[in-house]
Amino acid sequence: MEEYAMKGGNPLVGEVEISGAKNAALPIIAASIMTDDTVYIDNIPDVSDIRTLLDCMKKLGVNEKKKDKHSVAINGSQIFTLVADQEDLRKIRGSYYLIGTLLGKYKEATVALPGGCDIGSRGIDQHIKGFKALGATIKIEHGSVIAKAEKLVGAHIYMDVVSVGATINVMMAAVLAEGQTIIENAAKEPHVVDLANFLNSMGANIKGAGTDVIRIKGVPTLHGTEYTIIPDQIEAGTFMFAAAATKGDVTVKNVIPKHLESITAKLIEMGCEVEEFDDAVRVVASKPLRTTHVKTLPYPGFPTDMQAVMAASLGLAKGISIVTESIFENRFRYVDELARMGADIKVEGNTAIITGVDQYTGASITAPDLRAGAALVIAGLSASGFTTVDNIQYIERGYENFHKKLQGLGAQIEKVETERDFKKFKLKIG
Ligand code: EPU
Repeated sequence: MEEYAMKGGNPLVGEVEISGAKNAALPIIAASIMTDDTVYIDNIPDVSDIRTLLDCMKKLGVNEKKKDKHSVAINGSQIFTLVADQEDLRKIRGSYYLIGTLLGKYKEATVALPGGCDIGSRGIDQHIKGFKALGATIKIEHGSVIAKAEKLVGAHIYMDVVSVGATINVMMAAVLAEGQTIIENAAKEPHVVDLANFLNSMGANIKGAGTDVIRIKGVPTLHGTEYTIIPDQIEAGTFMFAAAATKGDVTVKNVIPKHLESITAKLIEMGCEVEEFDDAVRVVASKPLRTTHVKTLPYPGFPTDMQAVMAASLGLAKGISIVTESIFENRFRYVDELARMGADIKVEGNTAIITGVDQYTGASITAPDLRAGAALVIAGLSASGFTTVDNIQYIERGYENFHKKLQGLGAQIEKVETERDFKKFKLKIG
């Protein structure tokens, strides 16, 4: 099995190009089949969750032509089955977007219940509630969601929890429903807005995305479009915290600084200098890190996907920091791994109490999920000595060329497969 081997202790310095947002690309790719015309999508991140979704869509009869690894032309006019139950679909979260898009277009869909990272119970009751309100019947049988409707009719839907997935899924189904749908208590994440912009460019009529009330006037059909996906806010934030944890100086390029505001604010509280440009942000960590407290919240609050990465950095700030996770209940699984590197973190319920240490020490550790995996790599790069992180297939679900981008910033990191590779790496690095 492949793993990352690294020697820490070097400040990361330089510039890094941020890829397109995975969590925007997943629904946009799924929604591109809602017209029979061809849809051209650009700035797709080359990560395994996206490849899995595209491969599974091919098996439904969707035609895909890749211009290069970041651009694809998708045509959904030849879809021959509405049953999307391939084993691979169960591994990713974004697979559930096929319920909204197939139900919206064909009024019928059977889709494998979604998987994704094990970060807590990830119900889909709000998705189901929304589809039912639009007139669909929903059954769960043999591990799949079966959705059917004579027709979809717009409705007034109040989400009981702020859910990115449910907001997106219901919005997609409502686009081709008859009449008006109003989603209240909607998620406001940048990828919700990006999907709405994409659907509007296909002829949909969606207003209010980015606020907590989204209004959708159903249209009879959608048409082809060309669209460029927004930069990945979470990938950008990961490199920003990597600069902090390694006492580096990193400019993240191809970003929308507005999407990074909650991350920037925390880095400034921690004593970093953050400079914003039109489409780039520079983080300089020349002073010792300071403690702070953070609570994860839906956008524009501090993202849950950044929680582990921030905690890994706070573990190096002198004093006590408190991190509260309010979105998912199982997102502290990296704490035991960080403890192997010398971190001092106590978890009580949904709160982590972090007592900063001077430096982490390299160790052999395991990535428990995508974002926690990235956090452990950052810890490894700030640690003294050698670290290996295994289970990197999680990291590769959502970070494009992670180790290569880190190498570009001067990190001593390589992908290794065997003990011999690791020994060779150690000899090379010294
Ligand atoms: N929830 C419900 N019922 C529902 C839907 C959600 O109770 O029907 C709860 C969840 O259990 C959770 C909260 O609502 O406590 C928020 O869940 P949400 O639906 O917003 O999350 P998601 O759509 O499953 C997406 C991202 C996650 C990201 C969260 C929060 C994708 C594919 N995944 O998940 O990203 O953490 O939103 O921002 O977009 C990642 O990229 O590593 C990742 C985990």
